[in-house]
Amino acid sequence: MIKKTEFGYKIEGEKGFLNIIFYDNNIVRFAYSNDGEIPVSTPAIAVEPKDIECSQEGNIIKTKSLIIEIDKENLQVSIFNKNGELLNRDINVDLEKCEIEKEIIWEKGFYGLGEKYGWVNKKGTETSNWNTDVMGIFPVHNATIKNYHTSIPFYIGLSKKLCYGIYFDNSFRTYFDLGKTKDNVLKFGADGGYLDYYFIYDDKVSEVVKAYTYLTGRMPLPRKDFLGYQQCRWSYENREELMEIAKRMRAENIPCDVLYLDIDYMKDYKVFTVDSDKFYEFKDMVSKLKDMGFKLVVIIDPGVKVEDGYWVYEQGKENDFYIKDKNGEVYIGEVWPGRAVFPDFLREKVRKWWGELHLRLIEDGVEGFWNDMNEPADFTTESKVVPEDTVHFNDQGEEKSHAEIHNLYGMLEAIATYEGVKRIKPNVRLFILTRAAFAGTQRYAALWTGDNTSIWEHLEASMPMFMNLGLSGYSFIGADVGGFIGDGNGELLTRWTQLGAFTPLFRNHSVKGSINQEPWCFGEEVLENTRKFIKIRYNFITYLYNLMRESSINGHPAIRPLFYHYQDDEETYNINDQFLFGENILICPITRPYTRVRMVYLPKGIWYDYWTLERFEGGRYIIKEAPIDSMPIFIKAGAIIPTDNVMQYIGEKEQEITINCYLGQDGEYTLYLDDGISFDYEKGKYTEIKFIMKDSEKEVSITSEVIKDGYKIPKMKLKILGLDENSKVIMNGEELKLDNENTIDIDKLNIDIKIIK
Ligand code: GLC
Repeated sequence: MIKKTEFGYKIEGEKGFLNIIFYDNNIVRFAYSNDGEIPVSTPAIAVEPKDIECSQEGNIIKTKSLIIEIDKENLQVSIFNKNGELLNRDINVDLEKCEIEKEIIWEKGFYGLGEKYGWVNKKGTETSNWNTDVMGIFPVHNATIKNYHTSIPFYIGLSKKLCYGIYFDNSFRTYFDLGKTKDNVLKFGADGGYLDYYFIYDDKVSEVVKAYTYLTGRMPLPRKDFLGYQQCRWSYENREELMEIAKRMRAENIPCDVLYLDIDYMKDYKVFTVDSDKFYEFKDMVSKLKDMGFKLVVIIDPGVKVEDGYWVYEQGKENDFYIKDKNGEVYIGEVWPGRAVFPDFLREKVRKWWGELHLRLIEDGVEGFWNDMNEPADFTTESKVVPEDTVHFNDQGEEKSHAEIHNLYGMLEAIATYEGVKRIKPNVRLFILTRAAFAGTQRYAALWTGDNTSIWEHLEASMPMFMNLGLSGYSFIGADVGGFIGDGNGELLTRWTQLGAFTPLFRNHSVKGSINQEPWCFGEEVLENTRKFIKIRYNFITYLYNLMRESSINGHPAIRPLFYHYQDDEETYNINDQFLFGENILICPITRPYTRVRMVYLPKGIWYDYWTLERFEGGRYIIKEAPIDSMPIFIKAGAIIPTDNVMQYIGEKEQEITINCYLGQDGEYTLYLDDGISFDYEKGKYTEIKFIMKDSEKEVSITSEVIKDGYKIPKMKLKILGLDENSKVIMNGEELKLDNENTIDIDKLNIDIKIIK
């Protein structure tokens, strides 16, 4: 029997019920249960179902973009697009095991699944999701490890003409077999909860990501200065050491915006305390750093030290805010402070309390919070995370097993932090960084990929991981530059900094006991080469900020696999060692020692070598030299890219923007500008200038238009790249004499430039 419901249909089968619920014409939820009830969604889901146009005839349900054929007995579905092309077909639905098998039909690759080691294309592999403090159990991250710090049960099936995404909304331990056991079978399931998944269809992968981030939400626009270079270490042990780092950054002329304090700033590792012997006059120190242009981020771990009289511990105990063991006693584990208890972030009251605890640090001038160990890690167990048989209580007082909440814990902490600090500082964008996450956590915090090692393999492995995180809704991401565990070396740091300059989160971090790896630690040449790329990062700050704006509006990630824009080229499906930074910048890092040359795949079209402006015809591999002070970067003809004047920190000097126009193709770009700090942009205080480049046989025209004028426009220039010597440049009717750089002042923004070829 198929019955119409408010937002879809309910089907009764032999073994149970299937609720089909529409979230859009191309976003369909398939929620199975034994009793016909619709399962409660996880906090990943950010939107409500929609009342869309749909119809049913027999066992066929249609929306504007999909046709769903239902096998009523077995509750299996086949999904077609409106052209009748088969997109996805169930082979077996097992409600008891909470498992589904689907046929692999045309998919050339599977992508997504968040932070996982291994190659970008996950076809033929298997994995699972159970948030884990990986370093606690394995010495080195690698592709045989399935459980990382995050759980994003979302994958994409890809081909030239067809694409879809499946998001499995289940927070228990989930597993995915993407054609590993059987070539043509994809299986996923969970250790508990419901078989409840969303099918997202579009023929373009970028639209699937857009729809997935519509469903699970998009990142908030970050502070612009947190896109600057960040320096961290476990730990800068005292005030003198931290101030020394700050001074050295400035003395060495290394642009840097953010410094971090790892766990040793606390008194006995007690969260929300500061060791006032080591960091005396903390507020004064933070303000001195601020005067030098540094923002301070401090680490906050969820494990609260068990210590009588410690106010945080006592408050939580009094209010019954901690996770319980199976006998109803407060669960005590062990983390950095020794015996520790864990706030039960499932409850709003607990989240509110936790949020308020940030007040004092914020009053002291701290502007960022780094949520670590929030899987949550626990040194006493074999799994090195809080055990599954502990219990939580939700806002209704219902008991929930940790098995269900575990994968959500980091996200719930991020919610507590995000909402808490926003209540304290309503009009300043503070920075939150998390290690553990679930689908949707991008709405609250940036993410770094945990404890990598200072080895070349981890530099290489970070790229496919970033690309898949991007496809999984996470754009504000990065890895510890230079590698965290073990001793780095100068060449590795140089190459890692080159890649890091093109990751949204650009943070150098290293473990206690390892040799220091700030840019100056390996001699003059390394210093010069790392500084060079940190400066290049500052050239691209406005460009990156605009990418973040794009992520916050439509979910497109900053780091994109090549197939994001070249889906019709199957060659791009397995490229692991290059990525697009936005649509038109191709980054090709060197990830091996003593290597001064590499192969580069240029997708079709014309590409400029960023350094020499040499033009290359794409659709082929080329061999590219990459001396140690360089990394192959290519810019697509037709690209319009803003670059900034370099400063020591964002806001140090008046901003000057150059609009770089790479001739050879039509192009369009909308430059977004706001104060970079407050939420005033939400009230319209921002500016948008649209640039359009039309490249025809005889002439190129470049025009611009201010489409929104809500924030001051800095000094701007326009630079023409790829200009033929014999071309004439005419602006607003007058012929221009260009300087050596081919730049033009464009104070009046409604420009009209013609280049006669
Ligand atoms: C964890 C974090 C690491 C941090 C360390 C000490 O290993 O992943 O970044 O430095 O704890 O707090």
